[in-house]
Amino acid sequence: MLSRSTLRAAKSTQSILPRISTRPQCLPTSYTTNGRRYVSMYGYTQAKALVYSKYGEPKDVLSLHKHSISAPHGTQVNLRLLTAPMNPADVNQIQGVYPSKPPFQSTLGTTVPSAVGGNEGAFEVLSTGAGVKNLTKGDWVIMKKTGQGTWRTHAQLDESQLIRIENKDNLTPLQIGTVSVNPVTAYRMIRDFCNWDWMRAGEEWLIQNGANSGVGRAAIQFGREWGIKTLNVVRQRGTPEETEALKAELKELGATAVVTEEEMLQGNFRDYVHEVTRQGREPIRLALNCVGGKNATALAKTLAPDSHMVTYGAMSKQPVALPSGLLIFKNLSFDGFWVSKWGDKNPELKENTIKDVLELTRSGKFHDIPVDNVEWSWDSEGPALAESVQGTLGGYRSGKGVFTFTGGD
Ligand SMILES: NC(=O)c1ccc[n+]([C@@H]2O[C@H](COP(=O)([O-])OP(=O)(O)OC[C@H]3O[C@@H](n4cnc5c(N)ncnc54)[C@H](OP(=O)(O)O)[C@@H]3O)[C@@H](O)[C@H]2O)c1
Repeated sequence: MLSRSTLRAAKSTQSILPRISTRPQCLPTSYTTNGRRYVSMYGYTQAKALVYSKYGEPKDVLSLHKHSISAPHGTQVNLRLLTAPMNPADVNQIQGVYPSKPPFQSTLGTTVPSAVGGNEGAFEVLSTGAGVKNLTKGDWVIMKKTGQGTWRTHAQLDESQLIRIENKDNLTPLQIGTVSVNPVTAYRMIRDFCNWDWMRAGEEWLIQNGANSGVGRAAIQFGREWGIKTLNVVRQRGTPEETEALKAELKELGATAVVTEEEMLQGNFRDYVHEVTRQGREPIRLALNCVGGKNATALAKTLAPDSHMVTYGAMSKQPVALPSGLLIFKNLSFDGFWVSKWGDKNPELKENTIKDVLELTRSGKFHDIPVDNVEWSWDSEGPALAESVQGTLGGYRSGKGVFTFTGGD
């Protein structure tokens, strides 16, 4: 049996290898021994993908599917996973309760048509077809659109489906693999829904719930960078010490003030807001809501006249109920934002936003989210990976679940 290094050496000297098109059908495309993964001498790569063929709870419907990927031709690119997060929307998609549903297909050779889970992640280019113009081996890429399936060890995609990270210096796979959904959402909501008075930097506020989420942490940091004060609402933790530690962590990130949901729902919250905003001289002009229910109503009540509330999530699964007076007398505007749809409509702006966030990251002004790292090796079992996905909506987590592939080329 040839070792991987022997195969690579043979390939690099253009030796005895036959062209793929002449490969007899009966020859294996790839093979494993003792659980190890090998790339075949015909350019095929073995891959595994976390797929689902019906909707349900991740632990019930996700399974690990093994398949082969041919050498790329034309504008195809072969990729290896570096890092892919597990976001709440990924789970909703698998549950079948999310508006965008990737089609179930048979392209990976699954016994029934399936979709690959995951919507964002960082990948490394392993090889490119002859027609690929802008990517070379070793480049890091992210997927241009959501819904393409990122929970897979390897993938073959068309160059047009990928965004090349122009300068990956001083960036980690985690930073690149988590940039396209949450930071972009926070960035666009702050920029596009409120006419900030930039002459009043440091004198205007935004308020947000879910402030310890990926989006919330991004909003805190953009607020700090752009001179917008942030009033942040989190859920109380198990003990007062843990709650104080979370508040301190967000302040360290740049939060101006942090309160718990319980504190916000108390009668004297109005007085607190009055005080921190210098008796209303520093208006709260934007509310970012990913929770709904009473929490969202309380956010809206803090807003200055003519301000905006953007709803982008519904973690409590409770509807947003609004006192009519907020619409009639305060002329508040209520909008929704969905980064997938926005990104499809504004591909260039999305790339520029990503570049901006990565520039802030590189310069140390945008910090990593806390993560719960899930190592995905070639030997990882499907049920264990599916169980990690299941935990995503659990609440009170210490960090976002993130797959890190350690299985090599
Ligand atoms: N519309 C869009 O384009 C868009 C884009 C990105 C994200 N999102 C949405 O934004 C939200 C946050 O996403 P993420 O990836 O940033 O989240 P994340 O990092 O995974 O964190 C989850 C957040 O949700 C909170 N949470 C969980 N269950 C809750 C409940 N029952 N009531 C109140 N809060 C709860 C958590 O608070 P605890 O720590 O207290 O549990 C935490 O702050 C999600 O709803 C997601 O779907 C929307």
